[in-house]
Amino acid sequence: MMTLALNAPFQDLFFRGDSLTETVESTDGLFMFLWWHSVFWFVLLMGLTAYFVIRYRRVPGKPAEPSRSHNLLLETFWTVVPSSILVLIFLWGFWGYIDKVVPEGDAMELSVTGYKWGWTVRFPNGFETTDTAAIDEGGRKFPVILLPEDTDFRLRMNSSDVIHSFWIPDLRVKMDVMPNRYTGYGFSTPALEDDAPTIRMKEDGPTFQYRDMWVFCAEYCGDFHAEMAAIFRIVPRPVFDQWVNDAGEPSIDVGRQIWQIRCATCHTIDGSSLTGPTWLGGAEYQGNVYGYGYPANIDGYDEPVDRDADYFRESVLVPGAKVVSGYPGNMPSFDGQLNDSQLEALLLFYQSLSDRGPSLDDGAPDDEGSENPPETPDENPDESSDDTAAQS
Ligand code: CUA
Repeated sequence: MMTLALNAPFQDLFFRGDSLTETVESTDGLFMFLWWHSVFWFVLLMGLTAYFVIRYRRVPGKPAEPSRSHNLLLETFWTVVPSSILVLIFLWGFWGYIDKVVPEGDAMELSVTGYKWGWTVRFPNGFETTDTAAIDEGGRKFPVILLPEDTDFRLRMNSSDVIHSFWIPDLRVKMDVMPNRYTGYGFSTPALEDDAPTIRMKEDGPTFQYRDMWVFCAEYCGDFHAEMAAIFRIVPRPVFDQWVNDAGEPSIDVGRQIWQIRCATCHTIDGSSLTGPTWLGGAEYQGNVYGYGYPANIDGYDEPVDRDADYFRESVLVPGAKVVSGYPGNMPSFDGQLNDSQLEALLLFYQSLSDRGPSLDDGAPDDEGSENPPETPDENPDESSDDTAAQS
């Protein structure tokens, strides 16, 4: 067909990349149909209008031509044809919609949480990624979520704050993500092509084939809406299996990656100030000193409060409890978004940024993460503490 040959330049204009699967191609097909349909009628109607304007223009001294009041054939034509096209468009769109929102029965469920400003994707075994990638050298980093090739997925989506919209351009689907209900749709990853490019994610890790799909937010949700992105990376099944089963012991490195994904938009580690206080130990500005182990001036408190492990945990889970003076206190809670192991890793990283962190004292970052200040040593060195209460 002629239109197929004409499609290519417009396809490139309207879509930023190839669609992912056949279900998705039906969306492109419908879109291109609507486009050509509009072009056809626009040209026809504007052409006829122009022609009539000239053909039936008023000429001085010449009486108007008579016109008939009805033409059954013509009226039937312009009623039936457009109606049929509308029905066709409805069915085309309807079946495409159903194809997308109804996942395959045995699809793998991914739990997606939108938050200001990022996405968390949790796998059925509870795993969440800490891997990140930058678009170009030195650019902001985005979470990388691996998906096995040739697999069906079902998304169960929810927001922990405002309305976002989960948009994967390669899937041609946007869907709102809301704070008080679940939404979702299904999709399938294709088998990787033989000539798919290869990548190495860890320095000494294996190389493997992949295909990336970008995830964006399509609902304006605040300051960093435009940076609310992630990468879905389609990889061979064995690569995925190993990745998703990697529990990731809490470590400074893992903490750094979580900071990169979750905290870096507001908290720097170089001593400069963004929406929130810097994490760099000993940094000073606005009359405050920052970082682990340094006392914080808190709104509503007479005395400075110690930035210890408990303070850190509370600030992440209940950010409004102690707001550092000079800051607006608009941080969202990460309760339910970070599990204990992730919180632990984040704390290790936070401590590692300060000369008052425990890791420098004893060289071992694995002492449960909490500093042990010289509390009053055991008052009762005899090991009868269990009985003390009973005796008194
Ligand atoms: Cu989230 Cu825009």
